[in-house]
Amino acid sequence: MLVVLLSFCLCASSSVVHVVGTTTNVTPPEQGHLALLSAEDGGMSVTWVQHNSNNGYVRYGTSPTALSEKSVLATYKTYTIKDMCGSPANKTDHFVNPGYILYVPLKNLINGQRYYYSFGSDDNNTGFSPVYNFHFGPKSNETTTFIGYGDMGAASIGKNSTRVILSMIDDVDIIMHVGDISYAMGNEHIWGDWFKMIEPVTTKIPYHVCLGNHEYDWPTQSFKPLLFTYMKDSGGECGVPYDRRFNMPGPKLKLKDFLTGSRNIYHSVNVGLVHFIMLSSEHNMTKGSEQYIWLENDLKSVDRKVHPWIVFGQHRPYYGTTVVRIIPEYAIMRKVFEPLFVKYKVDLVLFGHIHQYQRTCRMVDHKCNDAGPVYNVVGSAGATTQVPFLWKPKWMEFRSDDFGISKFKAWNHTHMEVNWFNDRNDTVSDKYWILREL
Ligand SMILES: [Fe+2]
Repeated sequence: MLVVLLSFCLCASSSVVHVVGTTTNVTPPEQGHLALLSAEDGGMSVTWVQHNSNNGYVRYGTSPTALSEKSVLATYKTYTIKDMCGSPANKTDHFVNPGYILYVPLKNLINGQRYYYSFGSDDNNTGFSPVYNFHFGPKSNETTTFIGYGDMGAASIGKNSTRVILSMIDDVDIIMHVGDISYAMGNEHIWGDWFKMIEPVTTKIPYHVCLGNHEYDWPTQSFKPLLFTYMKDSGGECGVPYDRRFNMPGPKLKLKDFLTGSRNIYHSVNVGLVHFIMLSSEHNMTKGSEQYIWLENDLKSVDRKVHPWIVFGQHRPYYGTTVVRIIPEYAIMRKVFEPLFVKYKVDLVLFGHIHQYQRTCRMVDHKCNDAGPVYNVVGSAGATTQVPFLWKPKWMEFRSDDFGISKFKAWNHTHMEVNWFNDRNDTVSDKYWILREL
């Protein structure tokens, strides 16, 4: 039985259709996306792609018709076919030039201010993007609102959820995408397709990400607890496009790895009432590991009088009603993290990986218990639908295999409202409240 279930899971995780195609160099600038800077730096980063690296910068200001401020010159990153660690990503019929990925940190922004901005270069062959805008800091003095999901993919892979996200975005302060992002898996042009698809969202709201197996998995990865579920799901990318294309505000990864030095492996940010943490389930998180030590220090440092809610996100789940419940790797993660979640009173844990929506009670060790967080699998953002449900345990309060997007609103220090918007019929299919004691 175990063998049957595991093989079914693995087939499902690699069932996405591979699309081979070509793309041309980028001109004018495109694929803009925002992320918060670290608390020490303060402000917002703007990242985009253009066909050259010349003198890129951001024009910005508080009026759409007067972008009077000029940012520092952008730094840039890129990657070549030689940076891909395996096949098919390193095949000439799969790799295309991604362009230059430019990055600007906008510092000293005023909390509560809306900023208008455009990115690009004075170079004649490049020019500037359309004028976008974002609100810096929480949109409300009282509440904090965020969206969370995983497992999306470009429209060529699954369902394009941009329309649903845009329909609910006006009061949203931050988006958490908990891994499995574009599903390029070695088909480089799909990264560009995904960033262009999601650009109306990512140019408006800070967009925070963590690694999924489809960005990183490879046989020579630095963390590989057992044989079953850490395989070749990145298609030879080994996290390189993910690392170069995003700019998360984490500490640099010290571990010897494909991504040593990356700031996109684990990070946290404070937004209004919520402390958000994102971590890589693809890297070592066992007791004493770099991620574990960082996580405990981070949890200890949260001022709960200011940020009463703690929301944690990682890609691989350890509570769910599919085969993941019996995969040993995930039991290892649960044993490592659950005591920390209880000790530091984490309120909500977001997972992806299962292409479904599943939500538990507050729980500890497979029993409903208010000492633990709510576990919410939100792998329903548009990638393929996946494996069937197993039996429904008592702690599973709601589940669906439809596509959909979750929106969370912390109304105050004790009440968080959650709505899961079903993409099939544009209705709220799951509404619930997470309560916490003062
Ligand atoms: Fe996954």
